[in-house]
Amino acid sequence: MRYDFDTVVDRRKTDCSKWSVGEGELPMWVADMDFRTAPEVIEALRERVDHGVFGYTEIKDEWYDAYINWWRERHGFTMEREGLMFCTGVVAAISSIVRKLTTPNENVLLLTPVYNIFYNSTVNNGCRVLECPLVYENGAYSIDFDDLEKKLSDPQTTLMILCNPHNPVGKIWDRETLRRIGALCKKHHVTVISDEIHCDLTDPGTGYVPFCSVDDDCRSNAIMCMAPTKTFNLAGLQTAAIYVADPVLRHKVCRGINTDEVAEPNAFATVGAIAAFTKGGEWLDQLRGYIAENKKILYRYVEENIPGVSVVRGEATYLCWIDISAIGPSREVAAFIRKATGLYITAGAVYGKGGDGFLRINIACPRQTLLDGLQRLKQGIDAYMAGKNR
Ligand SMILES: Cc1ncc(COP(=O)(O)O)c(C=O)c1O
Repeated sequence: MRYDFDTVVDRRKTDCSKWSVGEGELPMWVADMDFRTAPEVIEALRERVDHGVFGYTEIKDEWYDAYINWWRERHGFTMEREGLMFCTGVVAAISSIVRKLTTPNENVLLLTPVYNIFYNSTVNNGCRVLECPLVYENGAYSIDFDDLEKKLSDPQTTLMILCNPHNPVGKIWDRETLRRIGALCKKHHVTVISDEIHCDLTDPGTGYVPFCSVDDDCRSNAIMCMAPTKTFNLAGLQTAAIYVADPVLRHKVCRGINTDEVAEPNAFATVGAIAAFTKGGEWLDQLRGYIAENKKILYRYVEENIPGVSVVRGEATYLCWIDISAIGPSREVAAFIRKATGLYITAGAVYGKGGDGFLRINIACPRQTLLDGLQRLKQGIDAYMAGKNR
């Protein structure tokens, strides 16, 4: 079956965060997609709605099987059933884990620029963010391992939140990089949270490496957070999972999410996840092709039409990272573009150290919307430069 990603869906009347913008504005910021989810998921949810009774819900075998089989078949990693826990969201999981595993004023290490909510989950729970900026050289990102080790070896550093693959730079960490991170964290007694929410949204022909699949250092010392919500555009269903191989660590995490009351599903959360992971494979593969094509269009458009600007080549996520360091500071440029053209994208400064000088754009939208966004981007940057050179 051929799935449709070209139809523009009007999201304005659905209390949708992304589209809660002014008339004529075009939001390409927050990480959800403008596509309808897979028809197979809609069908399963419709059946559940038709039942009409929406009482308390349990986690059944099908939910565990759906995660286990998807990770085994797609990512070559087998999780044991007892290692898996339901959680209402990846951010809910991360915040709860920070609360449970740290004491006030400890350091949580982040490789920056990174998903901004990691900062909130850290500081809202009484910890400090310790930034280890990624190295950006010749258009590519890597880790400064000397700096990382120095910061992990601080006895106040007890947790690291890894974004695997990495939002916003679109990087897929390879096995050797993950092995080195895992070894350093183990050596310095730093627990790793590996946020793998973007792991299914890789370019066709490329895959990611589940952190716990790397080796024993990684497996025994990590908490993996996963979800179908980015992949299948289900963020509003509030459905995610946590995997912890080590039983002692698992018990702590389990107590944390239960105490915080984020361990129980609503009536649609497991239905959506099960349908996505058992019936959504073909839809996802076509989606990945569509997003890859959107990325190519973005790369080409910027190269041919917007001088002084380039796009970092990323193999994962539908979030693209645009280098505007030759243009101006990101908050100013993003605000200017929005005011001048209505295009709403995110200033890189939001993502912490190393983020200023970049803009993040979400290209998970029909081609017609993308082309509109690209024209506004050019128009906005041209106008910004014209004002600067006046
Ligand atoms: C890296 C990362 N983690 C977590 C989330 C949000 O997850 P959830 O909606 O399950 O809380 C996002 C959303 O953009 C994200 O990019």
